[in-house]
Amino acid sequence: MIDSHCHLDAGYFADERAGVLERARQAGVSAFVCVGVGRGTAAAQEAVALAAGEPDVFATVGVHPHDAAVTSEADWTELERLSRAPRVVGVGETGLDYHYEHSPRDVQQLAYRRSIALARATNLPVVSHVRDAHLDAAAILAAEAPAAGGVIHCFTGGVPEARAYLDLGHHLSFSGILTFKNAGNVREAAAFAPLDRILVETDAPYLAPIPHRGARNEPAFIVETLSTLAGLRGLAVAEIDRATSENTRKLFRLPQDARVG
Ligand code: NI
Repeated sequence: MIDSHCHLDAGYFADERAGVLERARQAGVSAFVCVGVGRGTAAAQEAVALAAGEPDVFATVGVHPHDAAVTSEADWTELERLSRAPRVVGVGETGLDYHYEHSPRDVQQLAYRRSIALARATNLPVVSHVRDAHLDAAAILAAEAPAAGGVIHCFTGGVPEARAYLDLGHHLSFSGILTFKNAGNVREAAAFAPLDRILVETDAPYLAPIPHRGARNEPAFIVETLSTLAGLRGLAVAEIDRATSENTRKLFRLPQDARVG
C-alpha cells in the first residue's frame, strides 16, 4: 500500500514518529508521500530531510492555501530551491480553501497560480487542496495546465466535480472521509472515477477513518480507506491496492525500486 498524502512533521507525532512509520510498514505500507506545508518553510525542510533519511519516504513542498497570505518572497525562494531537492516528487499541497478562508481568496488564487508555475518549471505534479472552491480551482488548473498533471487530494466533491477534474487530466485521491456516514457524494465519485485515476491517502494526522475517527490518524490506517474503496467498486482489496499504488507511483514518478502493493 502507498499513503499518497500524509503529514509527518515531528510536531504531530513527537518522539513517536519512528514508531508510526514502523507500524505502517508492518501493516504493509511500502511508500509514503510526505507533504511539507505550513507557515514558513520549516515543514517543507523537514519533509525533504525525512525523505533523505528514509528509503520509503518521498516529499512534496508547497504553500497551503491557508498560508498564502503569510508566505514571504524569501519563503518562495526557499521553496523553489527545495522543490529541486532529491526525492521531492510534487508541489503542494496548494489550492483554494473558501471554507476556512484563512487567506483572502484573491491571495490564495495568486499563490495557487504561482505554485502551478513552479510545478511546470520543475516538471513535477501538483497536489491540490480544494474546499468549497471547485469551480475556481478547475478554472485555474485549466488555465495554468501543469504539464506533469496532479491530484486533487482528499477529494470531497461529488460526481460533477470529479468529472471536471478528470476531464482536465487530474487524479483524485480519497481519504478516510470515504468511511464517514455523511459522505455519500464522495463515495459516488469514488465509484465513478476510472480505476487508473484514483489514489488513496490518510492525510494523517487529520481525518482518521472509521473505526479510528476522532483519534490521531496515521499511515497504518490507510487500509480502512482501501477496503471501503474496494467494497464500493466491487473489487478485492488487493486489486484496488495494486491499482492505486501503481497510479501513485506513476503520478509521482516514484523510483522503480519503490516497492508497490
Ligand atoms: Ni494534507
